[in-house]
Amino acid sequence: MSHLSSTVTGHLRRPNEHPVEAPAETPPADHELVMKVIPMPADANANGDIFGGWVMAQVDLAGAVLPARYAQGRMATVAVNQFVFKQPVRVGDILSFYARMERIGRSSLTVNVGVYAERFDTQGRYIKVTEATLTYVAIDDSGRPRPVPRPEM
Ligand SMILES: CC(C)(COP(=O)(O)OP(=O)(O)OC[C@H]1O[C@@H](n2cnc3c(N)ncnc32)[C@H](O)[C@@H]1OP(=O)(O)O)[C@@H](O)C(=O)NCCC(=O)NCCS
Repeated sequence: MSHLSSTVTGHLRRPNEHPVEAPAETPPADHELVMKVIPMPADANANGDIFGGWVMAQVDLAGAVLPARYAQGRMATVAVNQFVFKQPVRVGDILSFYARMERIGRSSLTVNVGVYAERFDTQGRYIKVTEATLTYVAIDDSGRPRPVPRPEM
């Protein structure tokens, strides 16, 4: 191990050995499963849990899945309207991202995303770790807002 890596790892804290676990929850039936991912050690912060910025990036990706069905082309994230880290995410959790469309505007699409963790050693038991609401905007080739196509009647 190099001097640098031993210095860095010496400052990393081990995750809590016996964390207090939140009650299990059932993912909502009115949300659609849009993504699953497993965080790796490289995604951890100095507490040994998963870095919040990594979780936000995954939520941004997962949140885009349903709006993309309506935008039918380029779009951009314009706002993170709400973002709550309810429980820590741990290395090796299976994260499931459930989404539901909240609003379709002229050019904007707002979506709610709930993130549920199955802990490494309690697979099948879902803990809600994050909830967020994000807004995307359909954009044209110049990056300007364009109307969301309306389905043919
Ligand atoms: C997205 C972008 C094209 C919107 O351009 P804009 O000139 O601000 O557009 P407008 O003011 O006409 O708003 C467009 C829509 O977004 C909505 N919107 C704008 N700001 C918003 C906000 N803060 N929260 C929620 N909705 C918002 C508007 O209400 C409007 O919705 P509607 O057409 O359904 O009524 C522009 O802001 C942009 O390019 N942002 C950067 C996007 C980006 O790089 N995202 C990745 C960040 S890492």
